[in-house]
Amino acid sequence: MSSRRDFMGKALGGFTAVGGIAALYAMKRSWDPLPSVKAAGFTTIDVGPAQENVLVVEKWRGKPIFILKQSKDMLKDLKEDDMKRLLKIGDAHYMVTVGLCTHLGCIPGYDPESHGFLCACHGGMYDSSANVTKAPPPRGLDIPPFKIDGTKLVLGEQGPEYEKMLADGTTLPV
Ligand code: FES
Repeated sequence: MSSRRDFMGKALGGFTAVGGIAALYAMKRSWDPLPSVKAAGFTTIDVGPAQENVLVVEKWRGKPIFILKQSKDMLKDLKEDDMKRLLKIGDAHYMVTVGLCTHLGCIPGYDPESHGFLCACHGGMYDSSANVTKAPPPRGLDIPPFKIDGTKLVLGEQGPEYEKMLADGTTLPV
């Protein structure tokens, strides 16, 4: 009887270990950066593998860059002004911003449940387009200069979509 119990204990332990490893692997996969190439102030990022509602953090010229592929649920909560902040690449919409709060420069955290960002320093909040929804931040997160090249984004270059955002005041120069 006790050997049967030993066996059951070991089997259960084995399942738990496998489950734990699978969970860790899934978590690590979501932390893996997207394929990117860095060269002389430019960072090329392939956003093709990005998953909806999973925040990707890259780096450009020493600054954190947030990339967030929008799901249908996220899009339906956004207003016209918020939509102007998104990059359309293929059929998908992406938020691409500098990940520094426009109040005093803290790094906001993303909550996938509420689809929003919270800046823990003074309680500022942003929606999934990184437009500000609660003061004190004076504006949405800034959008870095970008050029769209297929499913790739070249940060540091100014493509026509970025020029338009600057011209209509959607973002300020970074
Ligand atoms: S630095 Fe983010 S709210 Fe103050």
